[in-house]
Amino acid sequence: GKFNVVMTRALLPAAQEKLAESCIIRVLGQEEQPDSSNFREWLKTADGLVVNSSMPIDERLLAAAPNLRVIVQPAVGYDNIDVEACTRRSIPVGNTPGVLVEATADLTFGLLLCAARRIHEGWDFVLKGKWSDGGNLSFGFDLAGKTLGIVGLGRIGLAVARRAQVFGMKVIYHNRRRRPDEQALGVAYAAFDELLVQADCIIVLSPLSAQTKGMFSREQFAKMKPSAYFVNAARGPIVDTDALVEALTAETIAFAAMDVTDPEPLPADHPLLKLPNVLITPHIGSATTETRTAMALLTADNLLAGLNKQPLPACVNNEVNYK
Ligand code: GLV
Ligand code: GLV
Repeated sequence: GKFNVVMTRALLPAAQEKLAESCIIRVLGQEEQPDSSNFREWLKTADGLVVNSSMPIDERLLAAAPNLRVIVQPAVGYDNIDVEACTRRSIPVGNTPGVLVEATADLTFGLLLCAARRIHEGWDFVLKGKWSDGGNLSFGFDLAGKTLGIVGLGRIGLAVARRAQVFGMKVIYHNRRRRPDEQALGVAYAAFDELLVQADCIIVLSPLSAQTKGMFSREQFAKMKPSAYFVNAARGPIVDTDALVEALTAETIAFAAMDVTDPEPLPADHPLLKLPNVLITPHIGSATTETRTAMALLTADNLLAGLNKQPLPACVNNEVNYK
């Protein structure tokens, strides 16, 4: 028979087609919560689960899905999933690293470039007729010669570092574990506090974990240069939003550009949306046609592998990956 697959959101058509032959697919409605009766019912017979980062996967949900062989998510981050609980039940969890590195690095560096040169403000200025009225836009700043501090130098961080180096920036980084290849990469390690003090621009690309939650709060913003540009392209809760609003309002730092926020989405009356020194995109780091297609296809491959008890091509808990 076919496998029962439950999705919190449909994948792109190319991936759905790949699955259609061997799977009966049920997709949760937009408004349906993890507690909806449909979802609960479907979970009872689900062999595979395709989720996204707004759906928490915890012990209680797993207990409602006794047949589950595999959980997959079209994302590199998996902080919404209790991976230890999945591992205890021998359920491999698949994600999509690798395929989204360049797209996410483009968006991340693009946020910095856009903010530094006020590209979004320039467009707004033109649209509002201020150019034709003879107004002036205030100056941006040169990236060349500046120090970029990257917190979380994984694959995406490294792709951002390469872009920054081509733009003439000096790159320093902070990781929990220092990289043995830092010299070859042309990046210098800095303790976290040291990076905060030295960097002109700071980009966060760490995964969200108990260690990184709230890692940027009052104390950290206070250590940064008043001219600092801060970019978060990782996960919203890594930053204490109230502390960021305070820092931007008091001009403790100069600017924040973010592809992720806490909460997400931001309510229309959120204080961040009232500040002039902010640029926000709606979590679109990997959102290009090529990359989202590759992510959907890798998600389908991960799913099919798990359903067939084969090793997932990209697994976050390899100790229970089928061998
Ligand atoms: C997106 O945020 C991802 O984790 O891929
Ligand atoms: C993504 O694949 C990363 O390691 O940053």
